[in-house]
Amino acid sequence: MTRPMTRPVTRPMTRIAHLSDLHFGRVDDRAVGALVEDLRALAPDLVVVSGDLTQRARRKQFREARAFLDSLERPLLVVPGNHDVPWHILPGRFLGPHGRFRRIISPDTRPIYREGDLIVAGLPTSRAAVAHWNWSLGRISTSGAQRVAQAFHHHSEAGLRILVTHHPLVPMEGVGHRHVAFNAKRALAILGAARVDVLLAGHVHRSQSGCVTLPGGAQGDWHCVTAQAASAVSTRLRGEPNGYNLIEVEGTSMAVQTRIWEPGEAAFREGEVKRYRRGNGGWG
Ligand SMILES: [Fe+2]
Ligand SMILES: [Fe+2]
Repeated sequence: MTRPMTRPVTRPMTRIAHLSDLHFGRVDDRAVGALVEDLRALAPDLVVVSGDLTQRARRKQFREARAFLDSLERPLLVVPGNHDVPWHILPGRFLGPHGRFRRIISPDTRPIYREGDLIVAGLPTSRAAVAHWNWSLGRISTSGAQRVAQAFHHHSEAGLRILVTHHPLVPMEGVGHRHVAFNAKRALAILGAARVDVLLAGHVHRSQSGCVTLPGGAQGDWHCVTAQAASAVSTRLRGEPNGYNLIEVEGTSMAVQTRIWEPGEAAFREGEVKRYRRGNGGWG
């Protein structure tokens, strides 16, 4: 199937809140309250959560995460993270690594959200085990990437295509390849050919956004936007405050704003804003 390099764009403004690494069980309740207020005020079209809803995959922690999600009263797309796989009960880990997530958060770990010409797909990258001593690392499956690519191909030509994973698929500045999901290179070749617009991920607890060039097969390279989210509300911080990404797309323009909360502050506030524009060959 061939696709023109530049798609026609008729899209009105789309606003997506990208949260990650909530880690219920180790949250700052003040941050949770401030986040609920911020999302009520901003009223995003969709709230994406890119995994690690809990600290230890305990039922109570999942229930707290569920109550938080319900309180937002917005459309949701959620994928599990490595902390949502129970490590303390080994049979459970291997028999059904996402069992509790499915029962309490969402029965679908490969969700697809469609609204108008927006399509957002999620894929699980957390595993019971990976071919490495560190099982907190993740893997993206080729079949999952193919399924998402197929959904993207069947979507509107003018559509905005977003993929959500817990583990990043591309290296991060200052962090390198350390947390990149296994098989990402192969998956990105499939997603580049499917003209993915945005890759959303978490896991590293650091916010970062940029553009990345993906191989696009016969149609040539494709440039897409990446956005990593910090930990939204947990006290597991890695050198930066709690935060989340607010993504606004209008026509061929996109803004990725980091919204930040620090202890002592009453509300989340605007942090760094990165702006992108789409042209021939993707975003830059
Ligand atoms: Fe995390
Ligand atoms: Fe994680």
